[in-house]
Amino acid sequence: MKLNWGMIGGGEGSQIGPAHRLGALADGNFTLSAGALDHDADKGRAYAQRLGVAPDRAYGDWREMLAGERGRNDRVNLVTVATPNATHFEITKAFLEAGFHVLCEKPMTMTVEEGEEIVRVARAAGRICAVNYCYSAYPMVREMRALVRSGQIGRVRLVVTNFSHGHHGDATDADNPRVRWRYDPAMAGVSGQFADCGIHALHMASFITGNEVETVSADFASTIPSRVLEDDAMVNFRMAGGTVGRLWTSSVAIGRQHGFDIQVFGETGGMRWASEQPNQVYYTPVGGRTQIMEKGEAGLSSDAARLSRVAIAHPEGFPLAVANIYVDLAAAIRGEARDGLPLAEDGLRSMAAVYAAVASARADGAWIDARPPIFR
Ligand code: NAI
Repeated sequence: MKLNWGMIGGGEGSQIGPAHRLGALADGNFTLSAGALDHDADKGRAYAQRLGVAPDRAYGDWREMLAGERGRNDRVNLVTVATPNATHFEITKAFLEAGFHVLCEKPMTMTVEEGEEIVRVARAAGRICAVNYCYSAYPMVREMRALVRSGQIGRVRLVVTNFSHGHHGDATDADNPRVRWRYDPAMAGVSGQFADCGIHALHMASFITGNEVETVSADFASTIPSRVLEDDAMVNFRMAGGTVGRLWTSSVAIGRQHGFDIQVFGETGGMRWASEQPNQVYYTPVGGRTQIMEKGEAGLSSDAARLSRVAIAHPEGFPLAVANIYVDLAAAIRGEARDGLPLAEDGLRSMAAVYAAVASARADGAWIDARPPIFR
């Protein structure tokens, strides 16, 4: 049985919309049945119809979509929220309360309280609220998680991760409206670069090691002085199990492109992965030679093998990582347990870490509890 899928945001020309469509439609699990795709109602209706949505389900805005879908027998099974950050909370909450499963873009909310509310609402409604930490669905990231779980590198001592690019490094472009809002508290909230990119890296550290982040100590900088929010951050963190974490995130690192990488160092070995070479994990046992593990090769964990879509050495990338999120969502909606799907609890943990990092940066790097109050 195909599932009906609806999308809010992700309109024509948006950054993340195409990855969701490629991902959701890749495996035949979902049909794009409804959408409120654009902040401009007419453009959104027209684009949805060009994508094959029936005219009566090509909605002008999300409230219209909620009203139109909730009464239908063939209502959408899953709603993706791919709008700008400040709108995630009210849209996600409204659809969960109406009994829909939701995949929300990150950051899930603007505040910790909103994050807690989403966790509560999803639990009370018995609906799935997933958050699009899509990098955790790359096959070789799953391999790293499996290697940690099987004890291959022993207890994890240290995680070092970067999500640093240079795409906002041109001061003469800082007033470009597409760039400026990200550093404006009224639009972006309490954090700029850390809430935008740093939380992917922080989620990945927990995802691979299985350890939650407990405390953070942060140094934030606005290297372009007109920016109120940080465009560069160094965040030290401590995890359950004694794992030490170091995270650098930046948007002014000119020359770095996507710039997301992670290294995990345990008692008996180390590993590294980078989003720009996502098909390889470099693994070094203590006292031994570095080995390159390749997506699609024999002997990988079942999770990594399951999520590898094309044969060894063929490139596979971001849209298929997003597709892996949708594969697991489809399975979860059909009632199968899926280990690894990032959920509202992960979205909440990120928001608590953002607030803790902001508080730490304002207190000269003081160590601050980064756990959400409801999980302490
Ligand atoms: P964008 O500005 O490129 O596109 C936003 C889209 O949402 C536009 O089509 C706009 O018309 C539409 N929109 C705005 N308000 C709306 C509303 N109230 N109702 C319906 N549609 C509305 O933004 P982008 O970069 O695609 O980001 C969207 C979200 O995705 C953000 O939360 C961002 O953090 C997240 N994102 C996540 C990534 C990931 O790796 N998981 C990567 C890039 C973005």
